[in-house]
Amino acid sequence: MEINKVLITDAVDQACVNLLKENGIDVSCRYNLTKEELLEEISDYHGLIVRSDTKVTAAVLAAGLKLKVVGRAGAGVDNIDVQEATKRRIAVLNTPGGNAVSACELTCTLITTLARNVVQGAASLKAGRWDRKLYSGHEICGKVLGIIGLGRIGREVAIRMQAWGMKTVGYDPIVSAEEAKKFNVQFLELEEIWPIVDYITVHTPLIPETAKMINSKVLAKCKKGVKIINVARGGIVDEEALLKAIEDGRCGGAGIDVFEQEPPTSPVTLKLIQNPKVVATPHLGASTSEAQVRVAVEVAEQFIALAKRNPKYTS
Ligand code: NAD
Ligand code: MLT
Repeated sequence: MEINKVLITDAVDQACVNLLKENGIDVSCRYNLTKEELLEEISDYHGLIVRSDTKVTAAVLAAGLKLKVVGRAGAGVDNIDVQEATKRRIAVLNTPGGNAVSACELTCTLITTLARNVVQGAASLKAGRWDRKLYSGHEICGKVLGIIGLGRIGREVAIRMQAWGMKTVGYDPIVSAEEAKKFNVQFLELEEIWPIVDYITVHTPLIPETAKMINSKVLAKCKKGVKIINVARGGIVDEEALLKAIEDGRCGGAGIDVFEQEPPTSPVTLKLIQNPKVVATPHLGASTSEAQVRVAVEVAEQFIALAKRNPKYTS
């Protein structure tokens, strides 16, 4: 496959550029392009590499007259119009797994942080207050964690939170109860999960079946004080319903790394981020040096394999 010129439009680790260049591929890094600039620029390239900021729309794919492959240095391909790419015979590649441990570790961090009001307590101390009573928390040990989506990240979270003494239950349409048992997750139907969990963490892709999966009806079925974590994709948790549930006390807090719109601008999202019971991070799940090198190398290797048609990688 002819892949001589590759455009990188989001900040991908330098390891990707180096590897592509070492294999004779010409690389240009152009970050923060406007939609119009991208439409103009893309016409000259055989390959495009992105993270989550660049929206690879039907228009971008149509403008990519020489485009053969789009690579996502990360897991989710929801910023790429995969259907349109398939129609145009443009391959779409991703690097699932390369950042799973990092996303899992951020999830676990948010769970433990919420339990002990670490962020709120630290902020109040920096502001000169000494509020020991206000930020008293609860133990994680013995609490029930509901994991929705038992793929790469979901199961890593299960294993780590079990070490903290949590009981883990979960649901995934393609994972059997026997499989879930192997990593000590009790497989339950969703309706059985909602009333028994203290924490819910979602680890699914954003697809029609999972959009607004955690909504007002679900939150009403949960125990009072349930805490919600989303390090998967904005839109899996209904932000308006979550905000309302936090404000009326049904939900005890939330740890959110991903938003319906990024960067967030809607009044509801901004209000959610500002809520004292919410710990929000700016899509940092994969932002570790280790994960970024891994996904950068994996995406470059796949491009090189395609360019060389090397069966070692393509089989
Ligand atoms: P994965 O494909 O390994 O696992 C996803 C699982 O979700 C699959 O097992 C799938 O069967 C399951 N699923 C699909 N529909 C479901 C449904 N209706 N109910 C329950 N489960 C369902 O993916 P992964 O690598 O574990 O990634 C999970 C999510 O995390 C993805 O959305 C990915 O984009 C996101 N992610 C975010 C960050 C970040 O920076 N915040 C980093 C890495 C991954
Ligand atoms: C992913 O889906 O892999 C994440 O969104 C990571 C990223 O920020 O690229």
